[in-house]
Amino acid sequence: MKPINVGLLGIGTVGGGTFNVLKRNEEEITRRAGRPIRITTVADKNLELARSVTGGAVKLTDDAFAVVADPEIDIVVELIGGYGVARELVLKAIENGKHVVTANKALLAVHGNEIFAAAQKKGVMVAFEAAVAGGIPIIKALREGLTANRIQWLAGIINGTTNFILSEMRDKGLPFAEVLKQAQALGYAEADPTFDIEGVDAAHKATIMSAIAFGIPMQFDKAHVEGITSLESADITYAEQLGYRIKLLGIARRRDNGVELRVHPTLIPAKRLIANVEGAMNAVLVQGDAVGATLYYGKGAGAEPTASAVIADLVDVTRLHTADPEHRVPHLAFQPDQVRDVAVLPIDEVVTSYYLRLRVEDKPGVLADITRILADSDISIDAMIQKEPAEGETQTDIIMLTHQTVEKNANAAIARIEALPVVCGKVTRLRLENLQ
Ligand code: HSE
Repeated sequence: MKPINVGLLGIGTVGGGTFNVLKRNEEEITRRAGRPIRITTVADKNLELARSVTGGAVKLTDDAFAVVADPEIDIVVELIGGYGVARELVLKAIENGKHVVTANKALLAVHGNEIFAAAQKKGVMVAFEAAVAGGIPIIKALREGLTANRIQWLAGIINGTTNFILSEMRDKGLPFAEVLKQAQALGYAEADPTFDIEGVDAAHKATIMSAIAFGIPMQFDKAHVEGITSLESADITYAEQLGYRIKLLGIARRRDNGVELRVHPTLIPAKRLIANVEGAMNAVLVQGDAVGATLYYGKGAGAEPTASAVIADLVDVTRLHTADPEHRVPHLAFQPDQVRDVAVLPIDEVVTSYYLRLRVEDKPGVLADITRILADSDISIDAMIQKEPAEGETQTDIIMLTHQTVEKNANAAIARIEALPVVCGKVTRLRLENLQ
């Protein structure tokens, strides 16, 4: 049967993995897809690299725009990344009637609404399994496997770099800066790791999942994003003593008045399966009203795990490209005219529990003053530790876990606590989710 022709834009780590896996598993993939999937052209600025990966078996060019204009190409695989030229190339490919497979979470989180509208108009598919959690088929699960459900919330460890850093900080008691250097030396973190450690990469992925889970547009600009750069080892230790682990979670939750969309370090009970996802691994926990909780675990990055997702999309497109566009799975899981503009709630309106660490003078009445403020604010205490002051010191740490409250209420109470003369400096505040 006539092969379907693929133009690959970018032959870095994922591009190389895609080329190799397609070649290695060619026979099985063809049996599944119904016809061969053939990479005919590779575009990369580094032609030498392209030649060494492909062995010169395909057409090579440094002009990606020529690939998206090539009438021989049926599917364009965009693995360039970023929102600049990648956006132009994807829109051009769509305009030229080509299906697109992309691993580019930043592009979709920021420009996805424009891209999906263009694809809808042209009747082409834009597939993006590799954009979220690498090799884990979470897009397929959310879009198809869980389609009977009203998704209530999802929470994911969707950045391997930060999960590696947090695991090492906990295991070895090392500070953030030191573990970051290790992560860079091991090749987990980029030379410029800003998007990873500041939570931006996780927010891109959470934005995409929220759109598919709830049938809402991409609203990355409304997401609340906090990374792990100011997380202190002391808090990881105290959390552990209270039976919790700290993970950088991407959370999307449906509420009566909108949706929560947030990324931040989060205490979660150590006994939950997801709390035990260590190192660079990813996991996403999804709560549906019919199915209950389901957990998806695997490698969130790397050449072949990500290639696994890219090729799954290539097979989907190959199977469906002759189908009437109305009979394909909608890009955002919901029919395009059923995507609803539900507001993302400001972080002040989020409802969650808190971990509070306070440095206080060790004097009578201190605890009473603090608990009075919490009681006045209707914030209930769930657990508490007070350390004995170290030898020769007059100050000590109090650690409290609270029940759920609205964030603005917690912030107001914390401001009153910080104003007490017996409380030294700022209160450390982390959010806590029970994930039940
Ligand atoms: N930089 C990402 C991570 C991998 O550390 O998980 C690609 O999404």
